[in-house]
Amino acid sequence: MTLDISSVLQGGYNHPLSRQWQSRRGLDKSMFMYPIFITDDPAARVEIPSLPGQCRWGVDRLEEFIGPLVKKGLKSVIIFGVPLACEKDALGLPADDPKGPVILAIKKLRALFPALFIATDVCLCEYTSHGHCGVLDEDGTINAVQSAKRIAEVAVAYARAGAHCVAPSDMMDGRIKVIKRGLIDRGLGNKCLLMSYSAKFASGLYGPFRDAAGSAPSFGDRKCYQLPPGAKGLARRALKRDVAEGADIIMVKPALPYLDILADAAQLAPDHPLAAYQVSGEYAMIVAGARAGVYDLRVMAFETTESIVRAGATLILSYFTPQFLDWLEV
Ligand code: PBG
Ligand code: ZN
Repeated sequence: MTLDISSVLQGGYNHPLSRQWQSRRGLDKSMFMYPIFITDDPAARVEIPSLPGQCRWGVDRLEEFIGPLVKKGLKSVIIFGVPLACEKDALGLPADDPKGPVILAIKKLRALFPALFIATDVCLCEYTSHGHCGVLDEDGTINAVQSAKRIAEVAVAYARAGAHCVAPSDMMDGRIKVIKRGLIDRGLGNKCLLMSYSAKFASGLYGPFRDAAGSAPSFGDRKCYQLPPGAKGLARRALKRDVAEGADIIMVKPALPYLDILADAAQLAPDHPLAAYQVSGEYAMIVAGARAGVYDLRVMAFETTESIVRAGATLILSYFTPQFLDWLEV
């Protein structure tokens, strides 16, 4: 049997270099944003059992934690606050406490590593007594207007402390517009990037994070603000809305089960950078599979990350960031 000319593809990718040419974009270190957990004990370095290899760190240990990674080429982090000693309340007031872990960490990282890009997750769930991401009415449902207002207050406080980027993960309606307005009115509109968790699904993959951040809701779930997994149309509407409201970067989260949404986002907002969050449960799943001998960890970290980039992401929030700094050349 002779092969038709159009049947033969292997000649195009039989060399390591020609294999690389088959990707539209290769992975590089600048695509990675590393999620870090900062707690209120300044001396802390506590391992997080559900997220193997990740710790909660205190502000006084940021140099020891981040310094070696910056030397290896780390370009950006996203800070999550983990308040353990504070009094949580209905409005999440500790979120923007000037002596709280997030604001202290922003200032410390800016001082220690002037070239590092510092993003901050903005949400109330780590700080509210009820553990929800917004402000509640008396009947326990979300008050959309109060939520957006309070979240914008927190975002502006982080921007004023020096964050290069604020990233609201709460999924409250209308908050992007209110945050953008708040930044502009404080003279920060041109200094701080607004990255929206736009298409964030109600996923079973956030468990290890909620453990790590102590942010599980005390009653109910997050289904009235996070998207139903089957909701392609809603995701597209949320992405378009956040672009219209002034987001500088839009995000899809989780990543691997939602690659079609990522591809949609790349097409709906071709002029915006597009972020994907490979979330805690995805990371834990990949590590667990490797430990069970199902595959090699590095192979699967690459395969999943490359698929995320192939779908259209230009930026990946990944707990594998430290490993990729070792694995990648540039
Ligand atoms: C909270 C928040 C969550 C994550 C980021 N911000 C969890 C949730 O919505 O319950 C998940 C990140 C991860 O799983 O790695 N607003
Ligand atoms: Zn939240």
